[in-house]
Amino acid sequence: MTDTSRPASDFDDLFRASLIRLFQLRRDVRHFQTKPVPMDLLKKLVRAAKLAPSVGLSEPWRLISVESDHLRKQIVDEYVAANQQASELYSGDTKGLYQSLKLAGLKEAPVHFAVFADAEPAQGKGLGRQTMPESLEYSVVAAIQNFWLAARAEGVGVGWVSIFRPERVTAILQCPPSWRLVAYLCVGYPVEEHETPELERLGWENRDNAQDAWQVR
Ligand SMILES: Cc1cc2nc3c(=O)[nH]c(=O)nc-3n(C[C@H](O)[C@H](O)[C@H](O)COP(=O)(O)O)c2cc1C
Repeated sequence: MTDTSRPASDFDDLFRASLIRLFQLRRDVRHFQTKPVPMDLLKKLVRAAKLAPSVGLSEPWRLISVESDHLRKQIVDEYVAANQQASELYSGDTKGLYQSLKLAGLKEAPVHFAVFADAEPAQGKGLGRQTMPESLEYSVVAAIQNFWLAARAEGVGVGWVSIFRPERVTAILQCPPSWRLVAYLCVGYPVEEHETPELERLGWENRDNAQDAWQVR
């Protein structure tokens, strides 16, 4: 008789401990070396991303690697404008702290990926997304998490930048209007490695270990 309580795989205790360690050590990186990331490695990371679950098996992820200097300059300009606007929401010491934070590594990161969700994918025949259209974006987030963890396991850092007006990024990159921006990822080898999130180290926010994220009804 098959023991269904055991996974049909060869994962062992060492692997399980390493997996948790990987979750603990994944960081959002904003300080990158300019050293290139080998193309074969990038392809491997994208293959890992594509193993993610997706609503109705629609695989709605669309990745654009932004390589041209001309486009990257427009992206940086858009980030600077959006970040300036965002900083106006704060005042006093908080504003000063916000302005001192490095919230993107756009200039140094050797690889830029704009990651979109196709809001009208033919694939999947609409399963699951009739009731929750946002499940397309959730699917793309799952793919990004795969990419992020696979990258970290290879010593490659990922920084997720959301300080953009999505419609501006879609226009700069001339993407179809049905594509929704989910993330702009900076990818490259980190300058330094930390166990603690940068925002915690710099006094912006702390992990809330007391928060009861799991409730019972
Ligand atoms: C959806 C999303 C958007 C984010 N956008 C930004 C951003 O624009 N700039 C930034 O510096 N970090 C951004 N981050 C990274 C978070 O600040 C970071 O994950 C958090 O501080 C915890 O740090 P850690 O990822 O190193 O654990 C984003 C993360 C997520 C999940």
